[in-house]
Amino acid sequence: MIDKRNIYKILEWFAEAGISDITSDTRALTRPKTARYGCTYTTLSEIQSLPELREAISKVDISLKNCALNMVFGVGNEKADLLLLGEAPGAEEDKQGIPFVGQSGQLLDKILTAVGLDRSMVYITNILPWRPPGNRTPTSHEIELFRPYVLKHIALVNPRVVMCLGGTAAKALLCTSQGIMQLRGKWTTIDGIGAKILSTFHPAYLLRSPSQKREVWVDFLTAMDMMSGQNSSRSHFSLETG
Ligand code: URA
Repeated sequence: MIDKRNIYKILEWFAEAGISDITSDTRALTRPKTARYGCTYTTLSEIQSLPELREAISKVDISLKNCALNMVFGVGNEKADLLLLGEAPGAEEDKQGIPFVGQSGQLLDKILTAVGLDRSMVYITNILPWRPPGNRTPTSHEIELFRPYVLKHIALVNPRVVMCLGGTAAKALLCTSQGIMQLRGKWTTIDGIGAKILSTFHPAYLLRSPSQKREVWVDFLTAMDMMSGQNSSRSHFSLETG
């Protein structure tokens, strides 16, 4: 159910995105979970809960954390069917210790509102739990180091769909060198994670290129169709990964 107070924000979003017809089904997010995907990832298998994972990550020996104010773990519904995976905290996230609370996060909130979701219905985390100095792109060492923790994070939440926000998150999770322009809107899976994975543009990119909002809106609706078992026809491609 969309809060009436958000209607203006939603209409503004649609107008900016050039969208004139709306057909989305949010029932998937409220119905009880039945056929959840299993998870076979076994590394870090001694960790059974998100608090244990948070503690394990806090102990990772990496200089990255010496430059940061706070560790940024994850936020939202720990039983969500939709997990959003970003790149790394920015300055505001570093200050607050919460993912996506800066400018990109505000845009992400608008996107969620536009498709009938809010933060209490999704789970949000990042590839890196600490802000890289000066917001630089995560290094391949950092990505390799944290990827097993990201996989464990996904396994513990056990969503039906993971949406990678932006090329860095997509490349890191999918272990591919393909860019976001190739990956966007294509379903894939990876070994050990039952969730279907869909990549879309990062909100920070949308702040620079607002004309791409429509694609992101379509991607979110596609994800919601998948969660409701409708196997969307909005996305026409699927990505084969090895
Ligand atoms: N960008 C990200 O990728 N993640 C955040 O948490 C904030 C900005």
